[in-house]
Amino acid sequence: MQEMKVNPYDVEGEIDYDRLIQEFGIKKIDKKLLTRIQKITGELHPYLKREIFFAHRDLEKLLDAYDQGKKFFLYTGCGPSGPIHLGHYSVWSFIKWLQDKFDVELWFQFTDDEKFLYKNMTYEEIQEWTNQNMLDVAAIGFNPEKTHFLIDTKHAGIMYPEAIKVAKKITFSTIKASFGFTDSNNIGSIFYTAMQTVPCFLPNVLSGKDEYCLIPLAVDQDPHFRISRDVIEKLGHKKPAVLHAKFMSPLTGTAGKSSSSNSAHAILMTDSPKTVKTKINKYAFSGGRDTIEEHRRLGGNVQIDVACQWLKYFEHDDEKLTKIYKNYSEGKLLSGEVKAMLIEKINNILKEHQKRKASIDIKKFIYNDAHYCNVRHNQEA
Ligand code: TRP
Repeated sequence: MQEMKVNPYDVEGEIDYDRLIQEFGIKKIDKKLLTRIQKITGELHPYLKREIFFAHRDLEKLLDAYDQGKKFFLYTGCGPSGPIHLGHYSVWSFIKWLQDKFDVELWFQFTDDEKFLYKNMTYEEIQEWTNQNMLDVAAIGFNPEKTHFLIDTKHAGIMYPEAIKVAKKITFSTIKASFGFTDSNNIGSIFYTAMQTVPCFLPNVLSGKDEYCLIPLAVDQDPHFRISRDVIEKLGHKKPAVLHAKFMSPLTGTAGKSSSSNSAHAILMTDSPKTVKTKINKYAFSGGRDTIEEHRRLGGNVQIDVACQWLKYFEHDDEKLTKIYKNYSEGKLLSGEVKAMLIEKINNILKEHQKRKASIDIKKFIYNDAHYCNVRHNQEA
């Protein structure tokens, strides 16, 4: 068995989330916190009930402030080096729910610098993925009035002055220890955490406000903020709160996370209905028995059956999901039947997504810093 490894640049092995909570020093989302969220949002998103979003940092503090009438903003991001898949889609659709329920601004960072520095790809290739990925993010349905895309190399003029303030307070040895870097890592990759830290407080710098920041993310991204939360505070800003998601498992059911680098592992947002059907029927790891007779008699294993597990993400109706699990484990439902349900759910999602994507006006989403630059200019003139 492969040793568990979880950091922004490596996710390996069987993931033990309780152990992660210990090692990362994060807190499990408990019943009390769920009740508190529900009081504000009216209903609970299935991803909260089902522990897909399972842990947090300082969410209580942020809610205390919210209860006193203080708004917060959301911040998350995308590293543009490949196609968007259902793992991304689920996290971001949950973030849309947060944006709608709390009626807050969302700052979305595209880290083209990061992917250029870490991947064996050209600058031009990364720019192409940035353009593609922005369309997929916008197609999630975020409110364009309240959503601001930051592209690291394009918004460098407003980001870099803040990034150097962060970088000055982080040592090379901290970065080495947190990400397992050695002396042969390129020097850009060492600096990069500073760039990912900037959107935690940049909106406040731009607006002159002092709002809390909430960062929903997949748990592998936490190490960046574990390093930088203290630094942010030292710079005179509020420590951001963080909300952690588990990884969607690969279709093949093996350890790690869903990733677009292996097409047998993930469903891409651009996949056709036929491709979805083929991928799921061919690759989705089955918890069913070898023969139908055996399956009817002994039932299937919901826990290891990827179609059952993926339905947690896409069948939002609790009663329906419970019934599917019950029938599958009692042998009344066959693997192929559960797969068919999953295929239908996913194809509906992809159809809607592709339709929205076709009519996106991306300019509405990209942060326009002309105003800020003008203000600076006039002050200097
Ligand atoms: N580093 C992330 C990635 O590789 C992208 C990212 C930037 C991000 N800022 C973030 C993710 C904030 C979550 C939260 O995908």
